[in-house]
Amino acid sequence: MALITLIYVSSAVRSVTSSDIQDILKQSREANGKKGITGLLLFKDGNFMQVLEGDAELVDALHQKISNDPRHGGIITLFREPILQRSFSDWKMGFKDIGHLTEDEKAGHSNYLDRPLNDAVYMSNPNEAFILLQAFKNTVR
Ligand SMILES: Cc1cc2nc3c(=O)[nH]c(=O)nc-3n(C[C@H](O)[C@H](O)[C@H](O)COP(=O)(O)O)c2cc1C
Repeated sequence: MALITLIYVSSAVRSVTSSDIQDILKQSREANGKKGITGLLLFKDGNFMQVLEGDAELVDALHQKISNDPRHGGIITLFREPILQRSFSDWKMGFKDIGHLTEDEKAGHSNYLDRPLNDAVYMSNPNEAFILLQAFKNTVR
């Protein structure tokens, strides 16, 4: 099995509510569990950033399906690389709205929190996106 990691950013359509996001998560956790896909979904001020990890074929197929999902648009793939081991193995799909953090949670993350998830910084330096996702993985439900 060839493991890959893939990170993309996107923008939710205006009508997406937090209950829509809960639906996405419920659906994702069930489906990802069956496919051995792990990862983390961040949301901030209408934008998503998601990392998907798993078998290359399964991750590519899911990414294709997610790209066609009408609940978001403006999808930009930042990163797709082979990996030897997972960084998000505990999450069938963790989620964090980093637009609504407690003061404690914000500490030390100001450079990330000041910019949108689809900021050009992440396109020119995708590793920054990985660092951001890593930074929040331990605070995720
Ligand atoms: C931002 C976002 C992230 C998503 N992440 C996942 C995911 O990790 N796993 C998943 O199965 N579906 C995810 N979905 C939902 C898929 O786009 C799709 O609706 C779902 O896989 C069900 O497809 P199906 O009806 O063809 O089975 C996500 C959707 C959005 C908008």
